[in-house]
Amino acid sequence: MDNKVTLRDIAREAHLSVSAVSLVLNNQPCRISPENKIRIRNIAKARNYSANQVARSLVTKKTHTLGLILPDIENMFFSSLAKNLEENCRRAGYVLIITNSNDSCKNDSELVRMLTARGVDGLFLIVSNESYRTGTKLLDEIRSLPIPYMMLDRVFPEFPCDQVLFDNEAGAYKAVRHLLENGHRKIACIGDSEYSDNCRRRVNGYLKAMEEYDCEVRPEYIIKGDFHIQSGYCAGEKFLKTDATAVFVCNDMMSLGLLKRFREEGVRVPRDYSLVSYDNTLTFFLTDPEITSVEQNISKLGNCAFSLMLDRLNGKTGDPVRHVLMPELIRKGSVSRLQSEVRKAE
Ligand code: RIB
Repeated sequence: MDNKVTLRDIAREAHLSVSAVSLVLNNQPCRISPENKIRIRNIAKARNYSANQVARSLVTKKTHTLGLILPDIENMFFSSLAKNLEENCRRAGYVLIITNSNDSCKNDSELVRMLTARGVDGLFLIVSNESYRTGTKLLDEIRSLPIPYMMLDRVFPEFPCDQVLFDNEAGAYKAVRHLLENGHRKIACIGDSEYSDNCRRRVNGYLKAMEEYDCEVRPEYIIKGDFHIQSGYCAGEKFLKTDATAVFVCNDMMSLGLLKRFREEGVRVPRDYSLVSYDNTLTFFLTDPEITSVEQNISKLGNCAFSLMLDRLNGKTGDPVRHVLMPELIRKGSVSRLQSEVRKAE
């Protein structure tokens, strides 16, 4: 027997109509006297009334639920970002539905439809890398959404919506400059410049730094990787066939795969090769040494994204807002200075 207190119970005890009680408890504009509003709220509190969110949403047309689509929930970068967004949502009285697209554009589209059908009030979108190959269908679906939405971390730069991201080219440039300033000139780069917009910009940052030092970028120095651990492991075999003395890896998951391959081959960092990674999410992984990495401050990213979404949920209109944040290089132990005698031998 469900003895859950209903609006009707409160209306009966307050000798008022159900609609009056509903308007007051849903903070809707109404012509109820202040005394009766206080009585209604006191009865609801005394009877331990908790709003039926589904019923409430029929009145307010709001579910106080937001949706997040992210590409790889097993990647610490995204799971930490989801945690930040969920905390922001909960503090503001929203539930966040966190979904994982597995870096598939088809799943992106399906999840947009599923979350919209469930009546989310707003949508956070971190697009799949695949969507950069086939994004038009997804973008058409997003464009027609009747609710606030925004892109974070991975964006379509020309798409007219609120966006928060980091300057990927600047982050990669800082990483490779650090290797160059430690004497390395033969530096490889592991990443997918073909599709992922973030990765393409990181490869551009690598190329810019190499060009400034007049370093030759041999074709074999740029090794494909898709941001997942396995691709970093596979990239290790190709890297070890080059004459590079250092490597810039476009994200930490690929660095984990690369380090696994190095260990299997008895290769040590930084004794044999210097390595700089991206995301700085490996702090609590037992890597030896700790990995120098470009940090994209997840709290700044999540807090900024939530703030933009809350503005829209509260009715802010106007042109899309775009925030580009600056990543920082966090120096640890995976880079060593290339000895001059080694350089002379080059
Ligand atoms: O590790 C996943 C990568 O993809 C991160 O660097 C983040 O920027 C995302 O785009």
